[in-house]
Amino acid sequence: TDLDHIRNFSIVAHIDHGKSTLADRLIQSTNTVADRDMKEQLLDSMDIERERGITIKANTVRIDYTAQNGETYVLNLIDTPGHVDFAYEVSRSMRAVEGSLLVVDSTQGVEAQTLANVYQAIEADHEIVPVLNKIDLPASDCDRVAEQIEDVIGIDATDAIQVSAKSGIGIEDTLEAIVHRLPAPTGDRDAPLKAMLVDSWYDAYLGVVVLVRIMDGVLKKGQRIKMMQTNAVYPVDRVGVFRPAMTTVDELGPGEIGFITASIKQVRDTKVGDTITTEKKGTDTPLPGFKPSVPVVFCGLFPVDSAEFEDLRDAIEKLALNDASFSYEMETSAALGFGFRCGFLGLLHLEVIRDRIEREYDIDLITTAPSVIYNIYMKDGSMIELHNPADMPDPSTVDHIEEPRIKATIMVPDEYLGDVLKLCQDRRGIQMDLTYAGTRAMVVYDLPLNEVVFDFYDRLKSVTKGYASFDYQMTGYREDNLVKMQVLVNDEPVDALSTMVHRDRAEMRGRAMCEKLKELIPRHMFKIPIQAAIGGKVIARETLSALRKDVTAKCYGGDATRKKKLLEKQKAGKKKMRQFGKVDIPQEAFISALKMD
Ligand code: GTP
Repeated sequence: TDLDHIRNFSIVAHIDHGKSTLADRLIQSTNTVADRDMKEQLLDSMDIERERGITIKANTVRIDYTAQNGETYVLNLIDTPGHVDFAYEVSRSMRAVEGSLLVVDSTQGVEAQTLANVYQAIEADHEIVPVLNKIDLPASDCDRVAEQIEDVIGIDATDAIQVSAKSGIGIEDTLEAIVHRLPAPTGDRDAPLKAMLVDSWYDAYLGVVVLVRIMDGVLKKGQRIKMMQTNAVYPVDRVGVFRPAMTTVDELGPGEIGFITASIKQVRDTKVGDTITTEKKGTDTPLPGFKPSVPVVFCGLFPVDSAEFEDLRDAIEKLALNDASFSYEMETSAALGFGFRCGFLGLLHLEVIRDRIEREYDIDLITTAPSVIYNIYMKDGSMIELHNPADMPDPSTVDHIEEPRIKATIMVPDEYLGDVLKLCQDRRGIQMDLTYAGTRAMVVYDLPLNEVVFDFYDRLKSVTKGYASFDYQMTGYREDNLVKMQVLVNDEPVDALSTMVHRDRAEMRGRAMCEKLKELIPRHMFKIPIQAAIGGKVIARETLSALRKDVTAKCYGGDATRKKKLLEKQKAGKKKMRQFGKVDIPQEAFISALKMD
C-alpha cells in the first residue's frame, strides 16, 4: 500500500469510556469481519483460550475502509494497555502511530487516565481527534465535556465527533476523520530496514510473535533480521497482518504495521522499543529513546508449604516466558525458607502475577511487603540499589539514602477533595497543583513511591467511594531520612516484616504493626514479646500473654484418640502457619501487619 493510503492510530480513553466498544464498531462497520463471522470468530478464539489456558493478545487490527471520496485506505489500530503500570509500553505503542482518537464519555468527562494517556499521545506528536462517546444516554452533555477537553487538556474540541459506540451513531464520521484529519505515515522503501518492536507475546501455535511497525525499508519472509539492542539475529519465518485474525502477507513496507515470527525462543529475547534491521546492509542508527522497561516494585513470593517450592519455580518460569517485564531471582529467608524475590512494573502487575500463581497453579503464597528500590549511598563513596529491606547494610556505614518519587494526578468530585488531600498529606505528599474543571478537582502531588505501593489505591477508593481516578509517573530520586525498621517476635527478627520507613513515621508505624501482630498471632503457652526496632533500639512493644496452664493441660491430657485428632487439626492449620523460632505466625499476618489504616 502506498503511504498516502495508510493511517495508523490508537484510541486513548479512561477505563469504561468505551474504547473497546468503539474499536469493535469500527471493525464491524468496515466489514473487516463479516457480521455473521463476528460472533463465530470471537467464539473461536475464546475456545482456544479455554483449551490452551493462554491469553490471546489480539491487540492490533488492520481495517480496509473505502472512504466517501471512493478511495480505499488501510487503517491500522494499535491497542494500548490502559494501566499506569505499563506506561512505557504505552509510550512505545504511541510512537508506532501518527494519531489518536481521544474518547471521552460525554456523561462523565475527562478523568485521570484520559489525561495521562492523552499526554503520552501529545508527547508522541500525535494529531488528536476528540470523540465524545455515549451520546445516546440522557446524561450526555457534549458542550460541557468539549469545553472541559479544551480547558483541561488544551486541545481544540470544536470539531469533536459525537458518537454512540453502542448504537452506531457517528461511526462513519469517525472513519472519515481518521482518513482526513490524521496524517499519513512517512518512510523510505529504498532505505535500509528500520522497524520498531512494538510488542511481543507467546502464542501456543506460533511461538513468540513480534508486533512491528516498519519505518523504512521492507520486511520479508526469509530475511535475516537483527535486534539492535541484543544483537541477536533471526531468520524471519512468517510475515503477516491482523484482520483481526492473523493473515500472512508477502511483505510489510514503510508505514505498515504487522507481525513476524522468527523462531525466537522466549519473549525476554525481544525488547519492547528495540529497533529491528537486517543482518546485512542494515541501518546503523536505531530509533531514538530506547529504554528497557524496568521493574520498580519488589516483593518476596514464598510457598506456604515449603514442599511446593519446585512448583512455584515452575510457575514463575512459565509466567516469565510471556512477560519480559517481570523479573525474579531465588531468595532465602530465615523465616520463610526458599522463595523468589520478584520485580514488577507496579502494584497491579504484582497482583496479576500473584493471583495467576495462586489460581492457575494452585499454590498458596506468602507475599512479603512490596518495596521500592532505594539508592543507598555508602560512606566509602559507593552506591547500592536496595531491592529488599532485609539486605540493608549496617546504618553506621551508610552516608545517605534516596527514594523514588512520583508525580500523582488525582481527579475527584469536590466533596471528597478534603479526604484526598489528607490522604496525600499523610503519605508525605507535597501538593504541586490544584485546579477545578466544573465540579471536579484535579490535584497533583509529589509523593514517595514507597507510600503508594502498598494500599494507596484501596484507601483512595474507599475515601472517595470509588469516584476518584488516579494516575502516576516516576519522576526521580530524592534524599530523605529513611531507616530500616525490624520486627522481632519473641526476640527473633522476622526478616519478611522488615520495612524501610521515614524516621518521623517510624514510631507510629511500629506501634501499629505490633498491635496488629498481637491480634493476628495466636496465643502460645508462653508469653511472646512483639517489638519494632530501629538498629538495636526498640521503638514499640506489645506483649501477647500466655495461654492459661489449666486450659492446655486439659487439651493435651486425656485419651489418645482425642489427642490424635487435635494433632491432625494442628497439622492442617500448620499449612497456613509459619514457624519463627518457637512461634507460629499465620500468613495473613504478613500482609495485614503492613497495611496502614
Ligand atoms: P476497558 O476495556 O475496561 O478499558 O473499557 P473500555 O474503555 O474499553 O470501555 P468498553 O468499551 O468496555 O465500554 C464500557 C461500558 O460502556 C460497556 O458497558 C459498554 O457497553 C458501555 N458503552 C460503550 N459505549 C457506549 C455508548 O455509546 N453508549 C452507551 N450507552 N454505553 C456505551
